[in-house]
Amino acid sequence: MTSLNKILEKTYEKHSLTKSEIIELLNSDGKELYKYSDRVRQENVGDGVHLRGLIEFSNICKCSCKYCGLRSPNNRADRYRLEPDDIIKYAQNGVELGYKTVVLQSGEDNYYDTDKLCHIISEIKKNDIAITLSIGERTREEYQAFKDAGADRYLLRIETTDKELYKFLHPHMDFNNRVRCLKDIKDIGYEVGTGCLVGLPNQTIDSLADDILFFKSLGADMVGIGPFIPHPETPLKGELNPKNFDMALKVMAITRLILPDINIPATTAMETINPMGRIIALQSGANVVMPNILDSEYKVKYEIYPNKICLNEHSGKCRNCIEGKINSIGRYVSSTKGFHGEK
Ligand code: SAM
Ligand code: SF4
Ligand code: FES
Repeated sequence: MTSLNKILEKTYEKHSLTKSEIIELLNSDGKELYKYSDRVRQENVGDGVHLRGLIEFSNICKCSCKYCGLRSPNNRADRYRLEPDDIIKYAQNGVELGYKTVVLQSGEDNYYDTDKLCHIISEIKKNDIAITLSIGERTREEYQAFKDAGADRYLLRIETTDKELYKFLHPHMDFNNRVRCLKDIKDIGYEVGTGCLVGLPNQTIDSLADDILFFKSLGADMVGIGPFIPHPETPLKGELNPKNFDMALKVMAITRLILPDINIPATTAMETINPMGRIIALQSGANVVMPNILDSEYKVKYEIYPNKICLNEHSGKCRNCIEGKINSIGRYVSSTKGFHGEK
C-alpha cells in the first residue's frame, strides 16, 4: 500500500488527518483522494443533492476585498439594491420552483438595517422554507435578531487563515473579528457555513492545510470552496490560473473526508472555470448546488468575478437543467430542507 493509500484508509476509518497528511494529499494528483471523498459522501449524506435558491439582492459593498469585483473602490461596477418587497417576491418564486432553501446574499450594505432584514426574513419564513444569510460581518446582536426572525443558516467564508495574507487582501478588516463573527453565529444556534478561496496570490499549500483544519475546529455545518477568479477591475487582475480548479477540488475533497456529514456545495465558481465543474465536484464529495433565482436585469451586475455561468438563463430553466445534470450521474434532487445530517 502506498503512503497515500495508507493515509486515505486511515481517514476513511477515523475522519481525521494531521497537517502533514493534508499536505501530502494536496500535493497528490487527487485521483485516489476523489475516490474516497465520493465514497465518504455517499455513505454519510447519500445520493440526494440539496438545491439552494440564491438571491443576490444588493451589489453595494462598503468593503474593499482585493479580489472582489463588488469592492467599493470599483467605480465601474453598476450598483443596484432590491427593495424588501422584491426580495420577498423572488423568494416566493423560489418556493414555487420547489426550492426548500433560499440564500439571501449581498455586499456589506448597511441600507439593510436590522428592522428591514428582520421584516424580509419573517415574511419569507411564512413559507415552509429554510433561510440562509450571506451578508457579511455584523454584530452579535444583529445575528441574534436575524435568528429570532427566522434565519436558519449563515455563510461567512474565512477566505484564508493565513493572517498575513488576510491582512494584505483585506487591509480594512480584522481577521479576529471575522473569527468572532463565526463563533457568534455558531453560538447563537445557526448552522454555520464557512470556506476559503483557493489560488490567491502568495497562498501556500501549508496555509490551505490550515484552512481545512480551521473548518474542523470551528465545527462547520457547511463549507464552500471557491477557486479564485481574477476580476479585471481589482488590484488582483490578471490571468486565471486553471490549476486553481484542481486545487480547489482537492481542498473540497479533503474537507469531506474529515467532516463526513456536512453540506458541501459544488460552487458556481468551479463551473465558471470548468464547464463540467459542478458535476465533477458532486462526484468528488459535494452534495449541494446553489442555482441563482434572481430573474432580473440586475443578475448580470452581481459580478464578483467575470464570466459567471447562467447569467442569461431563467430560474426555471436552471432548475430543470441542474436536475437533468444531477440525474445524469445517478443522483437525485433531495426533497428535504437539507439541514446538517438530513438526507
Ligand atoms: N459580502 C459577503 C461576504 O463577503 O461574505 C457575501 C458576498 S461575497 C461576494 C461571497 C463570496 O464571494 C466571498 O466569500 C468570496 O469568497 C467570493 N469571491 C469574491 N471575489 C471572488 C473572486 N474574484 N473569485 C472567486 N470568488 C470570489
Ligand atoms: Fe464586499 Fe463580500 Fe466582495 Fe468583500 S467579498 S468586497 S465583503 S461583496
Ligand atoms: Fe443554469 Fe444549466 S444551471 S442553465
